[in-house]
Amino acid sequence: MSVAVRTAVFPVAGRGTRFLPATKAVPKEMLPIVDKPLIQYAVEEALEAGAERLVFITHSSKRAIEDHFDVDPDLERSLEESGKAELLLTLRSILPKNVSCVFIRQGQPLGLGHAVLCAEPAVGREPFFVHLPDDLIRARPGCLAQMAADFAEHGDNLLAVEEVPREKTSSYGIVAVDRQMRLQQIVEKPDPEQAPSTLAVVGRYLLKPRIFDKLRMTGRGAGGEIQITDAIADLMEEQTVRAFRFDGTRYDCGSKLGYVQATLDYALQDPAIAAGLRLPG
Ligand code: UTP
Repeated sequence: MSVAVRTAVFPVAGRGTRFLPATKAVPKEMLPIVDKPLIQYAVEEALEAGAERLVFITHSSKRAIEDHFDVDPDLERSLEESGKAELLLTLRSILPKNVSCVFIRQGQPLGLGHAVLCAEPAVGREPFFVHLPDDLIRARPGCLAQMAADFAEHGDNLLAVEEVPREKTSSYGIVAVDRQMRLQQIVEKPDPEQAPSTLAVVGRYLLKPRIFDKLRMTGRGAGGEIQITDAIADLMEEQTVRAFRFDGTRYDCGSKLGYVQATLDYALQDPAIAAGLRLPG
């Protein structure tokens, strides 16, 4: 029997050092792609996949994220008074009424694995999504919806993956899989010559709650952080974990190049902007 995935976890406690000074006072997840912050793309993707409970693992420097998903009566009143009905609607539709948000502080940035473990009290013993908002994926249906459909059929833990150039393996968790895409091995940030493949894990996971038990046992790994990769390596001894090739385009918006590519691509999707982007002559 398939179980619906109702909770999405957004680990957003990292400091975003690659984007300093832009991210000194503004969370990386609040950087806009055209007119929408990365975190809103993330939330929309999770809602489309059926999530009703959104769990943000956050840090004191990320208060703007909480504000973004809160109502702002003063702003709404001023838009209403100035007759800006369309903008008012845009603002009011950021979050549907049936959706709840939970904000949990990760006191110390001990790593992605630790951030996910911080979500346990809000998730409970249910399957859940993990979404890293700086991996923006343009896909229809969205990447999480594609994963939810696969989970409804097979019920396995899923990691979204894509091929990367061999010289980039040291920026990713790299997996080796069998013909059914079942994980045989997972290694965090291997050097190109040590990487078991060029199949990289990207920022979408669908995990069953057993991962929390594994995370509790996981010590500090690569870079002195508690790595989700190490807990997944333990999990796959006990449960099937499959690599999931999604249909869509991923932009690494945690890097400057990926961020600019995403901005250009999303801008070109908007005919009004695209027309103006064409250089004269
Ligand atoms: P990154 O490796 O991209 O780190 O984290 P970062 O701090 O966000 O960015 P840089 O590398 O300094 O520029 C991957 C994801 O894991 C979250 C981050 O917020 C990001 O979504 N994370 C990482 C946490 O929530 N807590 C941590 O302790 C570490």
